[in-house]
Amino acid sequence: MASEWDLVIRNALVYDGSGSPPVRSEVAIKGDRISQVGTIGGAGAREIDARGHALAPGFIDVHSHDDFAVFATPEMDFKVMQGVTTDVVGNCGMGAAPYRPATAMIGGMHPGAHIPQWQGYGGYLDAVDRDPPSLNVAALIGHGTARLAAMGNARRKCDAAELSAMRAIVAEGVAAGAVGFSTGLIYEPGRYAATEEVIELARVMAGSTALYASHMRDEAAGLLDAIRETIRIGEEAGVAVEISHHKASGRENWGRVRDSLALVDAARARGLDVTADQYPYTAGSTILAAVIQNGAFDDGPATGGLGKVPADKLLFAAMPKHPEWEGLRLSAFCERWNLPARAAAERVASEEGAGAVVIVETMDEADVRTVLKHPSTMIGSDGVPAGAKPHPRLYATFPRVLGRYARDEKLLTMQEAIYRMTAMPARKFHLADRGLVREGYFADLVIFDPARIADIATYENPRRYPEGLSHVLVNGTIVAREGRHTGARPGRALRRA
Ligand code: ZN
Ligand code: CU
Repeated sequence: MASEWDLVIRNALVYDGSGSPPVRSEVAIKGDRISQVGTIGGAGAREIDARGHALAPGFIDVHSHDDFAVFATPEMDFKVMQGVTTDVVGNCGMGAAPYRPATAMIGGMHPGAHIPQWQGYGGYLDAVDRDPPSLNVAALIGHGTARLAAMGNARRKCDAAELSAMRAIVAEGVAAGAVGFSTGLIYEPGRYAATEEVIELARVMAGSTALYASHMRDEAAGLLDAIRETIRIGEEAGVAVEISHHKASGRENWGRVRDSLALVDAARARGLDVTADQYPYTAGSTILAAVIQNGAFDDGPATGGLGKVPADKLLFAAMPKHPEWEGLRLSAFCERWNLPARAAAERVASEEGAGAVVIVETMDEADVRTVLKHPSTMIGSDGVPAGAKPHPRLYATFPRVLGRYARDEKLLTMQEAIYRMTAMPARKFHLADRGLVREGYFADLVIFDPARIADIATYENPRRYPEGLSHVLVNGTIVAREGRHTGARPGRALRRA
């Protein structure tokens, strides 16, 4: 007799993603969906005994930069092996279309990789479906990419024709099923946009479920004004808002997250759907040229979006032309060349070009905890898939929240932490039938040992898979078994519901 189920998982402690306490249960899968949760009669064609393990919905990484990585490294091991089953790409204003500006902004992360071509966001999502990676992909439309296409890197406001060219790019993405529109207002070319430009473009989404996500203009001394600008864009355009990597950057700004969270709470009380994402580390990672341009090494009070960055708090993550520099600090180059921080950084940037990615230690652990505890915060890795020494968040964000912050430090309960990675982002980004362990939902699932789950990736050794994860399923197919990637690539492009 043929089995009724393709796969049955037994004896698991099921965290269903809703934030409810876990229950011991069995889960039956048929095809790509969960067909039953409870007591499963009859045997599955395959069975997994998950005794001693937790079962949860696969994690949704709402803040990724994997637009091209899903083609360059389709097994996406750095995400799959931490339990991520869906990546939201296109953050910080850097989207996958139009193709030429997207390649200019993102291609540098993948020197030598073969990336297919596509037209528009519809073409990008179709390309994902044609040559799928191991995980699902949802896309944000990038403002920076659209602006680069419409007006190059012009350091001025847009004119009416340029605005309508950008509007057409956003409209194509919205129609194709992109989950929202992102800005990167500390970066070129997004930083030259006036608030009104962003409002006009976000308005293209009004009446749809697509949201506005922003790497804000300032995460340092001007954090509160930047939060106000972001909220204003959402309210005037009539769209939901996602604040990217909520933080206070620069020692002189530590503690400001209490005020930024109060502004978020006030906007929520007025009825705006505003939430945020966060990676659980006190260091950020970004493009070296942007650190310089934002005045992080300048004398006097810091006025740029990152605050001050001392030379010994900056690590080289990706240096495509000098891989031997990766893992070193800027302070070592100040000594080697006998130059002040800004001049040494400029020399590195001019030799390396746009591919230079760095790690900057700019945050306070107390602020990281304050943001993580707040109910508006979900989890996003902001991983940058480039170089030998990427920020460890690329590999370890989700296990770090579960192991360190939920289990060990009890900052959140395990069920609350899982909710922030599953049902909460699925609802916010309108990913239909994902984010819960429930009958009829897609079988995106993670099995892990809650006593052992741990991030072991460090700044020195970032490319290490977390401990304690045993199985990962995407659309009913096993992509990791007993802690090993199976090579399966059952991912899909997810279009907004
Ligand atoms: Zn960002
Ligand atoms: Cu980002």
